Amino acid sequence: MDISLKQAVDLLKNEQVVALATETVYGLAASAFSPKAINQIYTLKNRPQQNPLIVHVYDVQECLKYALPPESFAQLTEVFWPGPLTCILPVKDDCILPQVRANLPTCAFRCPSHPLIREVLREISPLVAPSANISGRPSSTKKEHIENDFGKDFPVLASSNALLGIESTIIAYQQEKWCIARQGAISQQALEKHLGYLPEIISTKTIICPGQLLKHYAPKAKLQLSTNASQASGYVVGYSDRLYPQAKKVFLLGKSSDPDAISMNLYDMLRALDAHQIPNAFVDMDIPRTDKYITIIERLERAAL
Ligand code: TXA
Ligand code: MG
Repeated sequence: MDISLKQAVDLLKNEQVVALATETVYGLAASAFSPKAINQIYTLKNRPQQNPLIVHVYDVQECLKYALPPESFAQLTEVFWPGPLTCILPVKDDCILPQVRANLPTCAFRCPSHPLIREVLREISPLVAPSANISGRPSSTKKEHIENDFGKDFPVLASSNALLGIESTIIAYQQEKWCIARQGAISQQALEKHLGYLPEIISTKTIICPGQLLKHYAPKAKLQLSTNASQASGYVVGYSDRLYPQAKKVFLLGKSSDPDAISMNLYDMLRALDAHQIPNAFVDMDIPRTDKYITIIERLERAAL
């Protein structure tokens, strides 16, 4: 159900949960200071308690009220905030509720750039906002996705524009260097340009948060990743500039040369498989393993587990 900006702010001030657009994917937002609303988020999403939430702040100054970042944080936020970069930082004594950060001594902070959530944050901040989906399932990039997961009456502050479609990149500071805890909308190469070194991807090697181990982004359909999908005779998730002559039906992600379009359509197509009750599908993985494609490949690999 569409709600106005004012309704969203009023609901959040009354410790309710609302879905709202960010520049990456839709979030399920609540006041970071409301234990009641935070519990409601975990219940709605069926999210395990050990999977912590991202705290969304209006600006760097606000983040510094709660966090103790390393020096190099300032250079990064100068370039990437507001925007799809989340930083895991040590928190000042107990100023962020333990249930937000799964009792960890750190908390994930993000300063989003979408004008809608920024308007909301101007009125009520900080907000926790995990992706607006049932835990383990594909994230939501359209109002319909939220209605599908949480019902037609669930309040949504919807964006009139398409979102980037892939979650924020999460980084953590370890042994004097930033490393990537979750690949996302900002590529490893884009970070390298500003850091002067290639940040290591730690998501599959080192466990810095128990939530990392959980299933993510997966539709009910069983996905088979294939480099030979043009010959596949079942259902296919593929690209608009390719032919799949044997396929029963093709779910299009966009042109294979356009990683932005593929990102934008990714969760919509994974959800479409389930909407069509398709039990299994081949995914065309014949795409470059560079820059923005790396996150897309990681999401598809996780979705196929
Ligand atoms: O783009 C995004 O980041 C979206 C939009 C809505 O802002 N949000 C999002 O939140 O993707 P969520 O909850 O779906 O994913 C947050 C991830 C979790 O997988 C969690 O494990 C990790 O952040 N995380 C949160 N706090 C952490 C911490 N203190 N240490 C390590 N990982 C953490
Ligand atoms: Mg999520």
